[in-house]
Amino acid sequence: MTPHHADAGALRLGVNIDHVATVRNARGAGYPDPVRAALVAAAAGADGITAHLREDRRHITDDDIARLSAELSIPLNLEMAATDEMLAIALRHRPHAACIVPEKREELTTEGGLDAAGQYDRLAPLVAALRDAAIRVSLFIEPDARQIDAAIRLGAPVVELHTGRYAELDGEAQTAELRRLADAAALAAKNGVEVHAGHGLTYANVAPIAAIPQVRELNIGHFLVGEALFVGLGEAVRQMRDAMDSARG
Ligand code: PXP
Repeated sequence: MTPHHADAGALRLGVNIDHVATVRNARGAGYPDPVRAALVAAAAGADGITAHLREDRRHITDDDIARLSAELSIPLNLEMAATDEMLAIALRHRPHAACIVPEKREELTTEGGLDAAGQYDRLAPLVAALRDAAIRVSLFIEPDARQIDAAIRLGAPVVELHTGRYAELDGEAQTAELRRLADAAALAAKNGVEVHAGHGLTYANVAPIAAIPQVRELNIGHFLVGEALFVGLGEAVRQMRDAMDSARG
């Protein structure tokens, strides 16, 4: 464990290695290896590794998940669609955490998070099964009171707030979206739900999100994998940690 785990209230960094696998799969070669990337990220101070096993296996593969489960010494957060197939895989590997994400149009809210409210009946047994297996469940949702209310009713111990809209906006619209994120974080935390955030975060936009006091974990991938081309993945992770830590003050 890194020192970050020990500090109550500290902000953890989960590094998403999906797009290392995207580059590998573009050629069907054996490199670059996402497991190697995960080990480099861990050595550079990542608190956890996040990987999305998509139904179409477009980046991370079943074998990647098996190897990550075997080789990582920091927690693995498996991002998964709400399907029986993915539930069986999660129960087989028992990752530290599972984050339920939308993959199909009908599972999405208009903005892009999981429609936890609309999908309540489908999600309830899945959340229960993961919880029974002692896997920490999170739901990737929009910063929206209705979705948070559904997450609470579903018994999800964690929500991950979707920062994609925040990342795409600028100016006043971005400030308004930041306020939505901060309000949603406060509402979830007040109800005993741990708050994570992620999607589209970069050095340039991470600080205001890292400064939301209820946010306990950020999951960041695409930007770090791109930045790794220029400075190396370890250095990119260290710089992101620094940006998060200074924002946290
Ligand atoms: N959190 C969740 C739930 C995700 O699905 C993803 C990847 O899409 C991320 C965080 C990381 O997003 P990004 O790759 O844009 O940093």
